[in-house]
Amino acid sequence: MNILTNKNHQKVVLVGDGAVGSSYAYSMMNQGLAEEFVIVDVIKERTEGDALDLEDAQVFTAPKKVYSGDYSDCSDADVVVITAGAPQKPGETRLDLVNKNLKILSSIVKPVVESGFDGIFVVAANPVDVLTYATWKFSGFPKEKVIGSGTSLDTSRLRVALAKKLNVDPRNVDAYIMGEHGDSEFAAYSAATVGSKPFLKFAEEKGITQDDLDKIEDQTRNKAYEIINRKGATFYGVATCLMRITKAILRDENAVLPIGAALNGEYGLDDIFIGTPAVINAQGLASVIEVPLSDKELAAMKSSAETLKKVTKDGLA
Ligand code: NAD
Ligand code: LAC
Repeated sequence: MNILTNKNHQKVVLVGDGAVGSSYAYSMMNQGLAEEFVIVDVIKERTEGDALDLEDAQVFTAPKKVYSGDYSDCSDADVVVITAGAPQKPGETRLDLVNKNLKILSSIVKPVVESGFDGIFVVAANPVDVLTYATWKFSGFPKEKVIGSGTSLDTSRLRVALAKKLNVDPRNVDAYIMGEHGDSEFAAYSAATVGSKPFLKFAEEKGITQDDLDKIEDQTRNKAYEIINRKGATFYGVATCLMRITKAILRDENAVLPIGAALNGEYGLDDIFIGTPAVINAQGLASVIEVPLSDKELAAMKSSAETLKKVTKDGLA
């Protein structure tokens, strides 16, 4: 019995067993999360191999039923995580992947829904904000039951960079990257804090200039390209973000996390999924936390949303 949720059995289905998916599976295994973990991919041999490999980890973590499955396994799942889709090649943007990955996504969401799945979708394949919106459209699910990884990874990257500069633990830097998970994202510095102290004041006292902050924002925005140029793909960072989001759902945490959330008037926006802090629990999206942005940041949020809306409209046309 899981004492936190009163459920005696929790099940997660992963669709897409590539670099991101298999790293996520490993992270879930290490955290001892979900009693049943199912892996689905078009490459069946790979999911079988990964299930056999991962089950060997349980002796040192927590007992878990992990196996290679198919879409019928989604029928009683609590969470379906979608990491299936082409990754960027060096030089490609996330938005360049839209047509290829929308096709893959539609071939996945349909059979998941047909299985009778009634849990929470978590989407990570890129361009993630567009694909999260499309998952909502294709599934016919309530918006709250569809969550994107949004700017969770970017926010981690920002906090890591700021923590190095400020010489504090990254977990204590309460700063968010918001907007598109991609080239139009921005750092919401004006509302950030460190130990309840306004971040901009804290940074100023440490001798950090606006120029330094702009550079960190830029490096954060481009970090994926730096990693892809060196090792071909990014996966450990996002896998851990996905584990964290899944944990908040399975444990009904009401955790405040940066995710890709459906907006309903916040920031003057609707009909969009985009990166913002939000409260996550067993129902999925409990509420969006509307950050009090500066005028410049609000303009950046709106401009990022416009970019996403255009790509979404063209992609789904
Ligand atoms: P990968 O090529 O290693 O893995 C993709 C997997 O998807 C493969 O195993 C492939 O067989 C599978 N797949 C393809 N079509 C499928 C289908 N129709 N049904 C089931 N499985 C299918 O790629 P990766 O590096 O794991 O990246 C996966 C996606 O995640 C990419 O779109 C990438 O851009 C994205 N990503 C997102 C973030 C984020 O922060 N949201 C971070 C890193 C990567
Ligand atoms: C990232 C991926 C490529 O690492 O979206 O940001």
